[in-house]
Amino acid sequence: MTDPQIVLAERVQQALGTAFGAEYAGADPLIRPSQFADYQANVALSLAKRLRRAPREVAQALAEALDASGVFAGVEISGPGFLNITLDDAWIADQASRTLHDPRTGVGLTAPPQTVVIDYSAPNAAKEMHVGHLRTTIVGDSLARVHEYLGNRVIRQNHLGDWGTPFGMLIEHLLDIGEGPALARLEAGGGSEFYQEARAKFDSDEAFKQRSRTRVSTLQAEEPETIRLWHLFMDATIRYFNRVYGTLGVTLTDADIAGESMYNRMLAETCDDLEAAGTAVVSEGALCVFPPGFKGSDDRPLPLIIRKSDGGYGYATTDLAAIRYRVRDLKVDRILYVVGAEQSLHFQMIFAAARQAGWLNDDVSAEHIQIGMMLGSDGRRFRTRSGETVKLSALLDEAVQRASAAIADRGYDEATRAEIAHMVGMGAVKYADLSVSHDSEYIFDFDRMLAFTGNTGPYMQYATARIRSIFRKAGIAPSAATGAIDLGEPAERALALQLLGFGTVVETAGETAEPHRLSGYLFETASAFTTFYEKCPVLRDDVPPATRESRLALCALTLRVLETGLTLLGVPIPDRM
Ligand code: ARG
Repeated sequence: MTDPQIVLAERVQQALGTAFGAEYAGADPLIRPSQFADYQANVALSLAKRLRRAPREVAQALAEALDASGVFAGVEISGPGFLNITLDDAWIADQASRTLHDPRTGVGLTAPPQTVVIDYSAPNAAKEMHVGHLRTTIVGDSLARVHEYLGNRVIRQNHLGDWGTPFGMLIEHLLDIGEGPALARLEAGGGSEFYQEARAKFDSDEAFKQRSRTRVSTLQAEEPETIRLWHLFMDATIRYFNRVYGTLGVTLTDADIAGESMYNRMLAETCDDLEAAGTAVVSEGALCVFPPGFKGSDDRPLPLIIRKSDGGYGYATTDLAAIRYRVRDLKVDRILYVVGAEQSLHFQMIFAAARQAGWLNDDVSAEHIQIGMMLGSDGRRFRTRSGETVKLSALLDEAVQRASAAIADRGYDEATRAEIAHMVGMGAVKYADLSVSHDSEYIFDFDRMLAFTGNTGPYMQYATARIRSIFRKAGIAPSAATGAIDLGEPAERALALQLLGFGTVVETAGETAEPHRLSGYLFETASAFTTFYEKCPVLRDDVPPATRESRLALCALTLRVLETGLTLLGVPIPDRM
């Protein structure tokens, strides 16, 4: 274990046991960063009452019982009873060396590994993929990467909106336009206009409406010709989604598609199961679940309608079938639903119903990872000037164009510039999503996300590229920098200490499903590196060889932490910027 906070906590707990008896050994040592030392343990203050002793006295007893050997250079009591703890430089240096030689850079593996379903992206085929899906795609993909790195079995599930009544009119519209032209438009990302045209005809043209309704029934009955047309429509749409995923560098593939249509044949059985278990009851002709604890504004129990009185199924039924499938067939330990915060009530009710049905229990957790809304600079839902939803592919193109303009003066040839601009543009957009907590709303602002300073993608990419260039100048590969680490300067010590925290941060980001913890840590790391690099020359002629070796090793470890971390966020790293 390299994380100093964990080593410290273990030692303080040991001391608690020694000083006050075994029943105290489990108390939270309350380790916090300190202004006056590396860390402080505040447990003496919280235990004083229970022990009926003065806090400073408790701290004194704790300090005496604390085993400092090999790890701490100093333990002091300060204020009302804080224990200020300074780590030993040699211990930090040794841990940093170990981390450098550890292929996992200090990140542990989940033991035993968990099976984790990550339900993310999930655009609707009947509409254009819009910015709302951008965040769920980016956050979900990062969570998938993190959990895979932690050794968990990750099952990506792209719960596409690919079924239901709109497909009647969409298929009829496709026939009206002609298969070839319709598919070309869908593949080019024209899904939104396509949908609007179909909708307009449906509302104004009675014959079209009738055809659409008939088409819905033949679709539901899985009549072969209708299914063929539905496949044509879906395949073209998915080709467009895949282009966006490719541009973004998202790891979703066709194998991860588990859209609403997949559950079509499970819906009747799901309803039967719920009815047999007594979880679902017929109310006013519809089959409903009334999950305990949910009340409408009229104070009456709130229903989850799972089969309408006309026999039709809806979004809730599909999600209940999906949770049943994931638990029973995929045998998951954990399901993360990376979906807009506005669907919070839906998921709370689905989870409650699934618990009632016994599909969810203490061994399986389902969590809604709420995604906050993306806002425009006016503080309202992000839209184009004319009030339409912003087309995702156009947005990504603009990011690349702006990134290209930002690096125009750097003298790259056309191909190199295009390559870097793509990485910087995507890095900016993705990092912006990942650097704020996933449930907070945020203002989409190209200027801010593309800035080369502050907690932005380009800054993180630049910090990483800069270390790569140090190694180019030194004429060695980062992997060859394995010299002994020696911490003479405060900036070296601070950087090394920072680097030891990587493992815990990745583990925590996975556990809490909060990628912004990782990005925040990486930003601190890049800042610690900047200070180090200002204060501690690496390649200058007057630097003694041993110091140069040590500093190169610190550079190599920093580079590995940044590269691994950014890759877990899904942020690409250009070689130079
Ligand atoms: N297609 C839905 C939407 O765009 C999101 C689906 C999320 N996943 C789920 N299992 N409900 O709003």
